[in-house]
Amino acid sequence: MSRLNKIYNIKGMRRAARARLPKVVFDYLEGGAEDEYDLIENNISYDRWKFKPRRLIDLTVVDPSTEVLGSAASFPCVVAPTGLNSLFWPNGDIALARAAARVGIPFVLSTASNDSLETVAAQTDGERWFQLYVIEKTLARSLIKRAKSLNYSKLIITTDVVFNGKRERDLKNGFGLPMRYNLKTILDGITHPAWTMDYLKNGTPKLGNLANEELSPEARAALLRRSMDAGFTWNDLAMIRELWPGQIILKGILHQDDIDKCQQYGIDGVVLSNHGGRQLDTTISPVKALAKISSQTPEGRILVDGGIRRGRDIAKAKALGASSVLIGRAALYGLATAGEEGAYKALTILKEEFEGCMKQLGCSTVNELTRDLVEHASQQ
Ligand SMILES: Cc1cc2nc3c(=O)[nH]c(=O)nc-3n(C[C@H](O)[C@H](O)[C@H](O)COP(=O)(O)O)c2cc1C
Repeated sequence: MSRLNKIYNIKGMRRAARARLPKVVFDYLEGGAEDEYDLIENNISYDRWKFKPRRLIDLTVVDPSTEVLGSAASFPCVVAPTGLNSLFWPNGDIALARAAARVGIPFVLSTASNDSLETVAAQTDGERWFQLYVIEKTLARSLIKRAKSLNYSKLIITTDVVFNGKRERDLKNGFGLPMRYNLKTILDGITHPAWTMDYLKNGTPKLGNLANEELSPEARAALLRRSMDAGFTWNDLAMIRELWPGQIILKGILHQDDIDKCQQYGIDGVVLSNHGGRQLDTTISPVKALAKISSQTPEGRILVDGGIRRGRDIAKAKALGASSVLIGRAALYGLATAGEEGAYKALTILKEEFEGCMKQLGCSTVNELTRDLVEHASQQ
């Protein structure tokens, strides 16, 4: 695809995604909560960490591959769970999962995916993890059993969406499914014909995982409000542990006490995350939380996401002790631009930048990305 050949970085991919998507959809993809301070902060917080490269090191062979909680990855990256991917491209979950498999990294399917657990398992190769929103405990049990029987290898429980964040772009645009039509949205559609043709051909995307589930009226209402079971606590993790013998990861953690609690409750990994700035605005940035993590935290258990737009950001996360990063919007920009090919291109850009950064730093393996190679700007 010649259009993709002229895209050199994630900023360029973002511009291309913005051009193809109607404003209402781009705003859903991009938007953060309230003043969007975290959206900006996530993006710039990595740039405050400065490199101290090493020299005269043998770099004839440089290997960016690694392991993330025991899973092989061609570089320290996992495609983050994102809901409603078919709004960006038809069968968006399948397209993203295939792109991740081609690059050689794990893909996380969201509870709020449009393609179901079953369809994604049947139509994609590569490593798949499942992200659980506990909307209601009965539904959670059923989703876990389905994910287990379909060989999803890890379970990520998202903990920061008990109540939906106040996303003012969506409120202003009247965003919701099914889409509501008014003069503004119709004009938006007419001026983005490629996206609109796909939408008209395929219809409004459905929540694929919930199509065959019996939902209580409470669960249906919660889904519409995009809010989760507010009574779900640490004590309920035992119920999940009984159903899921594999690794369990908690996503949305930012407090050291919660990280410590994970060990106590037999949780295998943590994603430091503020949900890409979409939930509570003005949280501590995930990379700051990473840098402050106690030295008692077992190695290899911490993942981080939010604001990764360059391969060098991934190198910094690694140097600060993360086992891997998760990629949200950067992959979605690619998906929205050109489906699987676009997502593949976005992930490849990040992988090549990461490998280039390793070389510039004097690291021939990922394990050589250590704390001494970075320093916070405030220390200079
Ligand atoms: C459009 C969109 C939808 C998302 N949906 C989910 C979801 O269904 N489940 C979840 O745990 N996180 C979801 N997230 C959060 C991502 O998993 C991830 O934490 C965040 O995007 C990372 O920030 P980044 O976009 O700056 O990379 C979503 C993020 C975006 C942008």
